[in-house]
Amino acid sequence: MFNHSKYYLLLVLGATFYFTGCQAGGEWAGREYMPDMAHSNAYEYYSPERPIVIDGETVVLSPDGMSARQPAKGTVPRGFSPYPFEDTPEGYEQAGAELFNPMNGKHAKSAADGKNLYITNCAICHGEKGDGQGEIVKNGKYPGGPPSYFIDRFLEMPEGKMFHSMQYGKNNMGSYAGQLNKEERWKIVSYIKDMQAASIASSKKVTKDEALKLITGRLTYKDVATYTSAGAKPAAPAANTTDTTKVQANAAAPKKGGK
Ligand code: HEC
Repeated sequence: MFNHSKYYLLLVLGATFYFTGCQAGGEWAGREYMPDMAHSNAYEYYSPERPIVIDGETVVLSPDGMSARQPAKGTVPRGFSPYPFEDTPEGYEQAGAELFNPMNGKHAKSAADGKNLYITNCAICHGEKGDGQGEIVKNGKYPGGPPSYFIDRFLEMPEGKMFHSMQYGKNNMGSYAGQLNKEERWKIVSYIKDMQAASIASSKKVTKDEALKLITGRLTYKDVATYTSAGAKPAAPAANTTDTTKVQANAAAPKKGGK
């Protein structure tokens, strides 16, 4: 007898749950049991603000109705350092003249790290060797791909300009500021300069180290000539480019910056 009524009660309860609980449809969202887990007190992403009532008074925290707030004016997140140059031709020139690679003291390590980052992020267009023959350029999916890093304009490009172009993007190339932090971007610059120096060293009579100093703007072609004690004069670079003056101008008067 007792046992029977227990089963009967279970049956009634089960049927009640079955018929009232799960029949969402149309305008009826169904009944919720223990809804406190389903509806968060915290704001969902991008949800509108809910007015809150404090001591019987409705308080509006956000005049524009958005729950996501802008940071207070003039503040920056912890650990963030602002980028001082604007996305303008002037900002580009200024970056070229005033921004130097902080990784240059540990170039070898920086370039080695930069290589991995470069292969992951840049090689698809610029090519693993930097010749502008990345996969999507070769298969025709990206017409008007980038030039090779080994044309004069890129060889003499100050590292600050390279960094600037990664910060904001450049024509067909998007910005990398969201994907790569500053240190990573500088490491990639180290790697590009490393590839360029190796290329100069292979075709001209300077060592890779000298070539590196030359193209990062800390030596001029003239300096390199005096450095090459073995008598291997770097006649070729001076003769076949007009960069000499620009590189020298860069070193002497950085404000002017080569284009
Ligand atoms: C989707 C293809 C693509 C990818 C990926 C790409 N680039 Fe480029 N990049 C270009 C193109 C195209 C140009 C030439 C832009 C122009 O018209 O001046 C360019 C130009 C450049 C320049 C020269 C900018 C200047 O100031 O003239 C640098 C430096 C450069 N890229 C570095 C990088 C680095 C570093 C990465 C990876 C973090 C990268 N690029 C990824 C397409 C790409």
